[in-house]
Amino acid sequence: MKKQGLFITLEGPDGGGKTTQAQQLARWFRLYGREVLITREPGGTPTAENIRELVLDPALDLSAETETLLQLAARADHVAQAIRPALEAGQVVLCDRFSDSTLVYQGILRNMDLAQLRKLNDFATRGLRPDVTLLLDGDPRELVKRREDRGTVDKFELQGLEFQDRIRGGYLQLAQEEPDRILVVDALREPEVVTEEIIRKLEKWV
Ligand code: TYD
Repeated sequence: MKKQGLFITLEGPDGGGKTTQAQQLARWFRLYGREVLITREPGGTPTAENIRELVLDPALDLSAETETLLQLAARADHVAQAIRPALEAGQVVLCDRFSDSTLVYQGILRNMDLAQLRKLNDFATRGLRPDVTLLLDGDPRELVKRREDRGTVDKFELQGLEFQDRIRGGYLQLAQEEPDRILVVDALREPEVVTEEIIRKLEKWV
């Protein structure tokens, strides 16, 4: 029987360990013989990585509309060229950020209409939505320590704790609206403990 693809996205404020958890999950799925694609947004294809350079460039002053459309253009290419083909081949796709990032960073933070953004997301992805989304959640004051350790700071991370609080609140709002898809995971524990909890929570989808 052909293996079914599984589309998992990882979301949350900066510094919640999305990359580490994606790598651990990939290892776990591979142990069970699954092929895994780990990817990220904005990015994941040559075109989308080019758009990433633009959209994350702190020197550019992008309007909310421009920023949104660039994120969506990157997503459209990423889905068409990488994610959908992998799912059709039966792979597990682990994507670091996806449509929910647009709802939070452009929608909630930049006051864009969420219903309209959801439609635009569906347009960009031709209706592809994650099977399950892991929201790696934690108090930004604690998460900021990880960002400092990591030593990478991007345009959005430069904007301070109040901003990070709004990001967290935005994600929790989305999780409340879609509790069946968005699973909230406490990201402040040791990475191994977080991975174990995620694996337990994913049992239903595996
Ligand atoms: P990235 O450098 O990948 O860092 P991290 O995921 O560790 O925070 O950050 C990408 C940034 O792009 C992040 O700050 C959120 C932002 N973003 C949006 O604003 N909209 C989107 O649709 C996506 C996918 C990302």
